[in-house]
Amino acid sequence: MSDSDVQPQRMRKIPPVMLALLLQLLAFVLVTFGTRLLALSLSPFGFAIACGLLAAAFSHLARQARWWLPIQLLFVPALAITLDTDIPPIAFLLAFLVMLLFYWSTFRTQVPLYLSSNKVWQALETQLPVDQPFEFVDLGSGIGGVLTHLSRTHPQGIFHGVETAPLPFAWSWLRIKFGGYRNCHVYWRSLWDCDLAKFDVAFAYLSPVPMAALWRKVQNEMQPGSLFISNTFAVDDHPPQKILETDDLHHSELYVWRK
Ligand SMILES: C[S@@+](CC[C@H](N)C(=O)[O-])C[C@H]1O[C@@H](n2cnc3c(N)ncnc32)[C@H](O)[C@@H]1O
Repeated sequence: MSDSDVQPQRMRKIPPVMLALLLQLLAFVLVTFGTRLLALSLSPFGFAIACGLLAAAFSHLARQARWWLPIQLLFVPALAITLDTDIPPIAFLLAFLVMLLFYWSTFRTQVPLYLSSNKVWQALETQLPVDQPFEFVDLGSGIGGVLTHLSRTHPQGIFHGVETAPLPFAWSWLRIKFGGYRNCHVYWRSLWDCDLAKFDVAFAYLSPVPMAALWRKVQNEMQPGSLFISNTFAVDDHPPQKILETDDLHHSELYVWRK
């Protein structure tokens, strides 16, 4: 089975952000033609509110997640307010580029960058082999905090990270290179292109979206006796063998499966 075969079905469907955008366009077209047909004259802000209301209603009908509704409602009004200010256009381009470099394909993967807490790092420590060498991978390694922390507490391990977002990848690469972490490596690569067979421990902190496909990948590729640990996100119908609770801000739980 190729890596693309194990990618989640839902990721091959239209991403929610594209659907939201299409619904905004539909609302815009309908409000434009509707006001002309009915010979209504709306103020620019009234027009924006009408677009927002219609887009939010469409998102509701399309069964988008609830948190899309306020975004859809406020998107065009916020656009109208912003266009009324004197902010130079370059500021928007720069903000867009920074977001792009940080979040990259989040609109498709639905896995944004957020970081595991120190308490999670400490809980992870307790699951790693103590006296023997091992290989660990962080699937979506962000800015490399998990790797650099564990490489200090477990110098006999080799720590790998794969990350697709350019800025977090570059950050972790520099951190590892100039921090002298000789047993750490990061690769600008998708986790779906990473063969898990050589790792004794695979760690992931992603989102609910890819978990079913990641579970299949773990089952297909990881060796008997290896560990799969997920921060916060469980796998439907596959209860973990162990749950580690932490008392960090989100009361994060680590789900642990031994193959
Ligand atoms: C929630 S963050 C976790 C960061 C880090 N592992 C931690 O625990 O602090 C998830 C990371 O996975 C990355 N990511 C999402 N999809 C990915 C993919 N297909 N391949 C590699 N990295 C991915 C995101 O860019 C993001 O940096």
